[in-house]
Amino acid sequence: MSNQKIVFLGTGGTIAGTAASALEHSDYTAAQVGVHALLASLPGWNDGQGAERYVVEQVAQLDSKDMGFDVWVKLAIRVAHFLAQADVQGIVITHGTDTLEETAYFLQALLAPSKPVVLTCAMRPSNALVPDGPQNLLDAVAVASSAGAHGAHGVTVVCAGAIYGAEEVQKIHPYRLNAFSAGDAGPIGFVEQGRLRLLRDWPRGQGLTLGSALADAAWPRVEIVMSYAGADGTVVRALLKAGVKGLVVAATGNGTVHQDLEAALVLAMQQGVKVLRATRCAEGRLLPGANDALPAAPGLTPVKARIALMLALMQGR
Ligand code: SIN
Repeated sequence: MSNQKIVFLGTGGTIAGTAASALEHSDYTAAQVGVHALLASLPGWNDGQGAERYVVEQVAQLDSKDMGFDVWVKLAIRVAHFLAQADVQGIVITHGTDTLEETAYFLQALLAPSKPVVLTCAMRPSNALVPDGPQNLLDAVAVASSAGAHGAHGVTVVCAGAIYGAEEVQKIHPYRLNAFSAGDAGPIGFVEQGRLRLLRDWPRGQGLTLGSALADAAWPRVEIVMSYAGADGTVVRALLKAGVKGLVVAATGNGTVHQDLEAALVLAMQQGVKVLRATRCAEGRLLPGANDALPAAPGLTPVKARIALMLALMQGR
């Protein structure tokens, strides 16, 4: 057994949820069970080595649909704190599936950790007859422990035996156990009987220099508008009045935007609002053109482009 520590940070989600019946998978309350209790039920947890090897902290307890900047800041500060400890090998974060891809992208863009930071989750509540959370947790521990053997690093998501990169991962199904995909990028690899089978590289990046300034930083208002049949600039004009600082347009196809919406977005840019286009397609990367009226965020979904834009604005970029 390694003498390096694995840190568990609990934030809630279905993995910590409970239902009125063990057969109920959709009507339940998320974020009811503490992360200490979730871990105590895992095999090997109470074999005497757990206390030395594992550090456990409840950072938040929420349904991730309600995720907000306050929890993100708290989580990022704790992740950065533990990453800086020499005896910490990796971090596992339990999280709801609904905004998991946003938190994963936020942490990767901010910290670009050189150690593994693994978000995991469940699609069934903790008291289901056959819950998926315990196996996901064990698989996440396998990844978080793999900095040496497999060079694991960066923020990843582990669900249903697959390992996904923070930039590509997306929830694609409302209730299937295997609810995530990395689109045409595919998963980084799989966890099979506790062993990793890797298909491609771990997430890379620079990380940002926000550091402790993040705690006091004002989050700029960045909203997402969608282009669709009949879309016009009404929402954009209302958001300008509300003081929006950035706009992401969830564009059709390869980043095309309804002409009326585009005209409103060009006007917004002329008034100093930052605008980014991301494709609303589930797969593939947006390929920018030389004559595009609006800047693009290739490879990012609209929700991730929003995070990228918020962080850029916070950095004064
Ligand atoms: C949540 O996102 O917190 C609830 C849904 C889930 O975890 O699957």
